[in-house]
Amino acid sequence: MTDPHDLAALEDLELDLFVTALDRRYGYDFSGYSRASLTRRVRNLNMQFGTPTITALTDLLLHSPERITEAISSLSVPVSELFRDPHTFRALKEKVFPLLSSYPSINIWQAGCAHGQEVYSLAILLVEAGLYERARIYATDISAKALARAREGIFPLQDARDAARRYLDSGGTKSLSDYYHARYDFLKLDERLISRVTFAEHNLVTDTVFCEAHLILCRNVLIYFTTPLQDRVLGMFAESLVRGGFLCIGTRENMQFASAREKFQLIDGDAQIYRRKSGT
Ligand SMILES: C[S@@+](CC[C@H](N)C(=O)[O-])C[C@H]1O[C@@H](n2cnc3c(N)ncnc32)[C@H](O)[C@@H]1O
Repeated sequence: MTDPHDLAALEDLELDLFVTALDRRYGYDFSGYSRASLTRRVRNLNMQFGTPTITALTDLLLHSPERITEAISSLSVPVSELFRDPHTFRALKEKVFPLLSSYPSINIWQAGCAHGQEVYSLAILLVEAGLYERARIYATDISAKALARAREGIFPLQDARDAARRYLDSGGTKSLSDYYHARYDFLKLDERLISRVTFAEHNLVTDTVFCEAHLILCRNVLIYFTTPLQDRVLGMFAESLVRGGFLCIGTRENMQFASAREKFQLIDGDAQIYRRKSGT
């Protein structure tokens, strides 16, 4: 029983009921997300939907299935940018691409692709390395709304200058503007950059292994998960990778305490790139 005067405990209870409702009604399980950031995002959702309490929000979502896509989009933080952490892209280009080039076809799984910035960035570097045509990129996310945006490849033009700098820092060899058309306040990336990309809804919490991947990128997603959930997802990545395949996680994430750790060899600590050991 909660103390009737303890508002924090009441909010905690409401959050538990919200999480249960979303799981039972729609199959979205947020129970393994870190509590503090989930609470913040649920409060934001209250503001977005104009609901005064988490209970009112739960009630609204239970009875309005048409609002669930928008709710999932807000709860899952689809924040990204083109060539985010350029040193990571440079490390992929210099340390991973040469090894991927030995495969006749290359499967890449990009989990948590948000609005696609990472997909387009990776595609550009693969084109420049001459590897794009034999690559198949599976770009997945829990959010259908984020995936729809990713397919469009439209981003604010005001971000182009910084993105162009990050592209060069990533080891890009041309000009970023070679890959997009500017129109009004937006830029649209070339559709040929997604000709080898399959976008699909996939929930890392409830869905299973996705493909026989040679490279998995899952950056800035695990950070929202509790340690046991991170552990489970990293185990799934180990299973999804071919022996000798690569895993790249976010620079603020690591697998030091994960049970799957022994299956991986660290390739680049700054870029958080690992290689699946053979024989484990
Ligand atoms: C902060 S963004 C990271 C985007 C990109 N990877 C990057 O590093 O810039 C986190 C993404 O993970 C997705 N995500 C959150 N929970 C997920 C889950 N359970 N399964 C799949 N994707 C999830 C969100 O929808 C969001 O697009």
